[in-house]
Amino acid sequence: METRVTKLLQIEHPIIQGGMVWLSNAILAAAVSNAGGLGIIAAGHAPPSWVLEQVQLIKKMTNKPFGVNIMLLSPSVDEVIKIVIQERVPIVTTGAGNPSKYIEQLKAVGTIVIPVIPSCAIAKKVERSGADAIVAEGTESGGHIGELTTMALVPQVVDSVNIPVIAAGGIADGRGLVAALALGAEGVQMGTRFICSTECTVSDEYKEAVLKAKDRDTLVTGRFTGHPVRCIKSNFSRNLLKLEKDGITIKEFEKLGAGSLRKAVEGNVKEGTIMSGQISGLVKDIKPCQQITNDIMNETQTILDSLHKR
Ligand SMILES: Cc1cc2nc3c(=O)[nH]c(=O)nc-3n(C[C@H](O)[C@H](O)[C@H](O)COP(=O)(O)O)c2cc1C
Repeated sequence: METRVTKLLQIEHPIIQGGMVWLSNAILAAAVSNAGGLGIIAAGHAPPSWVLEQVQLIKKMTNKPFGVNIMLLSPSVDEVIKIVIQERVPIVTTGAGNPSKYIEQLKAVGTIVIPVIPSCAIAKKVERSGADAIVAEGTESGGHIGELTTMALVPQVVDSVNIPVIAAGGIADGRGLVAALALGAEGVQMGTRFICSTECTVSDEYKEAVLKAKDRDTLVTGRFTGHPVRCIKSNFSRNLLKLEKDGITIKEFEKLGAGSLRKAVEGNVKEGTIMSGQISGLVKDIKPCQQITNDIMNETQTILDSLHKR
């Protein structure tokens, strides 16, 4: 399938593995890129030395395009930008903020810049600043979220900008990809589906929690902080919500949340935050990234054929 996104990124399938802090390292990203999609290393809040190591590692694991996701809330953003420029990372996506002030320097070395955005206003702003494409991410997503659903956000963003739009949030199979294309997107970004891939190095306990989750098994913590996060319901996340209702301060909330994703990533799902999207209920198996992308493309073809016949 060829779209402006596949052409821009020089990838075979319009499928992007979203950056996932502490979960998407060089191993996962290389597997997705080798499977014909775009794999992305998440810089998250990791030390810049870790980002450098992962970028150098992925270059040994694939000769296909790959990306680095830069979390704009991280205190090390400037250092990470320096690393991606120095290493000539082909594609950069950005999360949790407006990357406009970094776009010029990244593009100056030929890096393709794709901000993740939650609204039309920010989409227009980053297009004016020179973004090459955007990821319109709906509130169904795992991790940090905006307010609008993918269904409502994507077509409005498509009508607001001229650059290609990639849909994210609640997509995990061929039905999701076809729906995204129907809304005007030219590719999809998935996080939750790739957590349950063979190559994702997250703990088995984390993968198990995603596999077990049903449609209503996620909740959103931290709305009052301005940085809401979607994760799987657990004693830990339910307790955080209760403390919010009881009037905990932002400082206290952040103290409790700090390091909690990493705990779950390492296997302590009881005391950790299991970030995952509403589509978790659809994810029922762990399979290699190559099979995930092949299955999605085959399902997509079958659906498109059946729609033509109607
Ligand atoms: C565990 C987890 C961590 C994430 N971390 C980041 C991140 O560091 N930066 C970012 O831009 N998006 C992050 N996201 C969002 C994903 O990149 C992607 O856009 C999202 O998962 C798509 O929705 P889905 O989960 O329904 O597939 C994260 C998502 C998950 C599930």
